[in-house]
Amino acid sequence: MSFAMLRIISFFSLLHLCLSTPPRGYLELRLKSAFPLNATVEIADDIYFPTNKRVWNVPLVPDEVKVLSNIPVQFHRPGIVLVNSGPLEKFGLDFETIRSERWNTQTMTIMPERIHLPFTGFRIDFMCFRNWHGPYCDKFCNENNAALINRRCTHNGTLGCPYNFRGPNCKKPITDCHCENDGFCVSEFKNPTDSVDKLICECPVGFEGDRCEKEQYEYAMPLSVDMHGNKRSEKKWMLLKQFFARSMVANELYDNSF
Ligand SMILES: *[C@@H]1O[C@H](CO)[C@@H](O)[C@H](O)[C@H]1NC(C)=O
Ligand SMILES: *[C@@H]1O[C@H](CO)[C@@H](O)[C@H](O)[C@H]1NC(C)=O
Repeated sequence: MSFAMLRIISFFSLLHLCLSTPPRGYLELRLKSAFPLNATVEIADDIYFPTNKRVWNVPLVPDEVKVLSNIPVQFHRPGIVLVNSGPLEKFGLDFETIRSERWNTQTMTIMPERIHLPFTGFRIDFMCFRNWHGPYCDKFCNENNAALINRRCTHNGTLGCPYNFRGPNCKKPITDCHCENDGFCVSEFKNPTDSVDKLICECPVGFEGDRCEKEQYEYAMPLSVDMHGNKRSEKKWMLLKQFFARSMVANELYDNSF
């Protein structure tokens, strides 16, 4: 290996060291297929200088949910998830990919209402490790200690009353909520020893600001699906076109309670 090459590599690993904090949250990916597949899943941090790339072979059998869990990821940064179905000969499919577009990694769930066969279920959840809070899992608050004094941890990492209550003893119901865009009103004590709380808004994905009034700039529709076949074989290509035309199905892992 040449000297110049070495220098480039060490520059990027240095850059990586400077930019990354220890992961404070993880990703969980669920897949379901209507056919036996030799699928692979690739996950990396960042999209411009992909680092920490990990690849899994995920054999799928019909109607069984496969779960990849506890995969540490960097929050507040873009990430890559690439699912490759592997071949499905009888429909002329060489492989299909489900690829993440740009997103801002935060606590969220990605599950389209409909997906393309051969997959019948697809879902990604981003979650914080225990005691880390907020959309980017960067606010620390010990939940056991909070519960001991009848408090919960807010998205700011501060203490607040249990959901739906406020006041010095957390006895007053919350009635006067002024959060926008389905933000949820919670109480917060600025300091752990305060007895006077105020109401703050915990925002759904896509919104931020004190009243959840601002749309998050970085959030984008996150998934694209591509099917790949062999154009040189007319028979296979026809099969794939027919397959594609009928391939949109309901996502069995879609959960409409969200
Ligand atoms: C998966 O790979 C194994 C080993 O290469 C092969 O025997 C099997 O037929 C493949 N299954 C599918 C569904 O492609
Ligand atoms: C907690 O977050 C809200 C916005 O959701 C903000 O208005 C409030 O000032 C924050 N509290 C502290 C103590 O930083």
